[in-house]
Amino acid sequence: MTDLYAVMGNPIHHSKSPQIHEQFAQQCKQNLVYSAMLVPVDGFENAVQKFFKGNGRGLNITVPFKEEAYKLADSLTERAQTAQAVNTLMLQDDGTILGDNTDGAGLVGDLTLNNQVELKDKRVLVIGAGGAVRGILQPFLGQCPESITIVNRTFEKAQNLADNFREFGPISAAQFSDLNGPFDVIINGTSASLNGELPPLSASVIGPNTVVYDMMYAKQLTDFLQWAKSQGANKVLDGLGMLVGQAAVSFELWRNHRPNSGLVLEGMRKQLQEA
Ligand code: ATR
Repeated sequence: MTDLYAVMGNPIHHSKSPQIHEQFAQQCKQNLVYSAMLVPVDGFENAVQKFFKGNGRGLNITVPFKEEAYKLADSLTERAQTAQAVNTLMLQDDGTILGDNTDGAGLVGDLTLNNQVELKDKRVLVIGAGGAVRGILQPFLGQCPESITIVNRTFEKAQNLADNFREFGPISAAQFSDLNGPFDVIINGTSASLNGELPPLSASVIGPNTVVYDMMYAKQLTDFLQWAKSQGANKVLDGLGMLVGQAAVSFELWRNHRPNSGLVLEGMRKQLQEA
């Protein structure tokens, strides 16, 4: 019987995960079926239990269920524990469900492996303090940056995150008006661009060597990356590589095979640009 995998979310029609995992399975010669499942907002736990009672072996979890998945898992990886959010579930041999969060590893892999951007000893600025940022902080601190500074529209949330993650490395919160640039690496983890807005950053955070990453992606450069480019950033990168990267880490956890995510990313980029 074929092993089943799926991504659960609401909405889910836009998900690129089935396409990505199908390509990984082909590359690694794995016999599996991966589908997208629309789950009612009040029906997540039921859907997960039903899936794993059948031939389900693993799930990706997306908006709005990542916190519920965190609560539902029988055990958690350390990075899922600190993120307090789960994007990957796996049925283990003893019938229990393991929760992991591969978002941060996906982003770190995209920066360091796909784009040769080292984080060690670098000054990193992270913008935003929501779920997306919470998921990446521990893997980022694991790369031994010189410092991570968090800024957020609501300052208290940045301060809370910095307090929660201080045990993992040098992290602090700042007000937008107090930033002392330029930074080596800037990560935009806000959803500001969904409203066509930009975070209130001074141009001085960007210097000629600054790498700027937006966790969002679009056919064209996002507004944030356009702004960064116009301020003279060295390199601007969007979140498509993070999407493929987190999928690759989930796939490896489930199947013990490491797919070639660079190859899949190339195809996805081409498709996005031709769409
Ligand atoms: P996600 O799970 O995608 O991180 P979230 O938890 O709602 O979503 O967090 C969204 C982040 O984007 C928050 O940091 C939010 O700032 P607040 O904490 O002040 O709400 C930030 N954000 C959203 N719209 C923004 C805007 N127009 N300008 C600046 N920051 C914005």
